[in-house]
Amino acid sequence: MIINKKIVFLGYMGSGKSAIAKLISKKLDLINVDLDNYIEKKENKSIRNIFKISGDLYFRKIENKYLKDLLNSDNNKIISLGGGTPCYSDNIELIIESKCIIFYLRANVDTLADRLFNERDKRPLISRIKSKKDLKTFISKHLFERNQFYLKSNFIIDVDKKTENEITNECISLLS
Ligand code: S3P
Repeated sequence: MIINKKIVFLGYMGSGKSAIAKLISKKLDLINVDLDNYIEKKENKSIRNIFKISGDLYFRKIENKYLKDLLNSDNNKIISLGGGTPCYSDNIELIIESKCIIFYLRANVDTLADRLFNERDKRPLISRIKSKKDLKTFISKHLFERNQFYLKSNFIIDVDKKTENEITNECISLLS
């Protein structure tokens, strides 16, 4: 299969963007770049430390800058975004204008809360939430705000109760 465009994965934290992008890149023999990893390498700091030391506004500024780097780069590649990337600055417009194929990995609140609860420490936006009930309330509100951006994707893939292999095959079948 020959893909002449960049492929972008977006969705909430814990929706599986990085994992699925990695699997598809292997199957299609495409370069895979995870925007969070790219930012960490360029800034020589973890995402957690960037938030802690420089704050969220700084993070959103460099996220926009490094997203542009990737969208303007030559090679066709698979890019997995951070959960907030499409929702800030002109990012979603930039992605659409770049004629990327955009997949939204859509997970429901229960799936996300189950996956994220024990990983809160690593994630600055939810690190202070104490109980699963509060996490669910937070995710519900946050998803409601973010969905308007996520829904601009070309393809929406429901990921609840599916294996990584099933999701990967579903995405690849939509590319052919
Ligand atoms: C964020 C999601 C994170 C990371 C940052 C902010 C968000 O990426 O970019 O902590 O605003 O949802 P993942 O979705 O890969 O965890």
